[in-house]
Amino acid sequence: MSKAFTPRMVEAMRPRIQQITEGLLDRIEAGGGGDLLAEVTYPLPATVVMEFIGVPAPEHARMTQLATRMMALLGAQYATDAPAIARGAHEAMNEFTGYLTGLIAQRRSAPQSDLLSTLIAADGPDGRLTDEELILNCMAMLNAGLETTANYLGNGTLALLRHPDQMRVLRDDPGLAEYAAEELLRYDGPAPIMTPQLAAEDVVVGGQLIKEGQLLYPVVGAANRDPARFPDPERLDLTRKPNGQLSFGFGIHFCVGAALARIEGQTYFPALLNRFPHLRLDPDAAPPRFRDDPLLRGLEALHVRVD
Ligand code: HEM
Repeated sequence: MSKAFTPRMVEAMRPRIQQITEGLLDRIEAGGGGDLLAEVTYPLPATVVMEFIGVPAPEHARMTQLATRMMALLGAQYATDAPAIARGAHEAMNEFTGYLTGLIAQRRSAPQSDLLSTLIAADGPDGRLTDEELILNCMAMLNAGLETTANYLGNGTLALLRHPDQMRVLRDDPGLAEYAAEELLRYDGPAPIMTPQLAAEDVVVGGQLIKEGQLLYPVVGAANRDPARFPDPERLDLTRKPNGQLSFGFGIHFCVGAALARIEGQTYFPALLNRFPHLRLDPDAAPPRFRDDPLLRGLEALHVRVD
């Protein structure tokens, strides 16, 4: 996967990401404001990841909906209607599998310059990927790349709105985009509790013995505010460097899409402030509320005014 997901391929998306961002901001501008989540922070990563994989535009809306239904499974253990969510996720997986099977067949006979064609052609130590592996990798990317990035951009925007001094810092110096994108990931990342991990051997962490085979939930949201690592950790500081935030995880499962998500943040935040110097929360809308999901930290909506 990482062989296909090369830095060059990701970097090549930057101008297109800028173009998609500006197009989505046009819609907010035309309305004098709106729900940034629905209008921008969700459609942006959805369009990016689907174009990157090679899903044709007319299918984007349907695939986004399927991804949302699959991802709902993550928080299902905390929901009262868990069986319905699980059934919905299962149906979505079947529909996605059916669609991708057809798309893979098309790309096999007529390759294009997209990730799916690259993955089909990629030769690993165990040969080429099977259809099942291709489908599961695309599913993982769609699921892992959409909601996370949408919430990253949403949580980051709220953090900026709540820190007008920092908003000004980035607006006046868009050259800080790279640092700002890291700091906003650190300050309020979208996946504060990582997937559970099993200890491979006995290990002592902070004086606590963790035995081989015990289940751990690494809370990167807490690690990102570790005062031993980050001076004045509760302060949002878009010029913070070095940063070393852990929102993309670590080790062999380090986020495959980190470079792509970073470019989306580096593009979106300065573009938003450049376009809307007077961005503010909509005083007529209910105050922003975080959804009741401890694994995917994100807002229900983010109504803003830009006039
Ligand atoms: C701000 C946005 C994102 C955040 C915070 C994030 C966070 C993470 C984290 C914490 C992991 C590790 C999970 C673990 O250790 O079990 C992970 C894995 C992964 N991410 Fe991301 N991610 C983001 C965006 C993306 C994007 C844009 C894509 C794809 C286009 C993506 C694809 C993946 C995949 C496929 C994995 C699994 C890697 C593996 O298991 O080897 N992510 N992500």
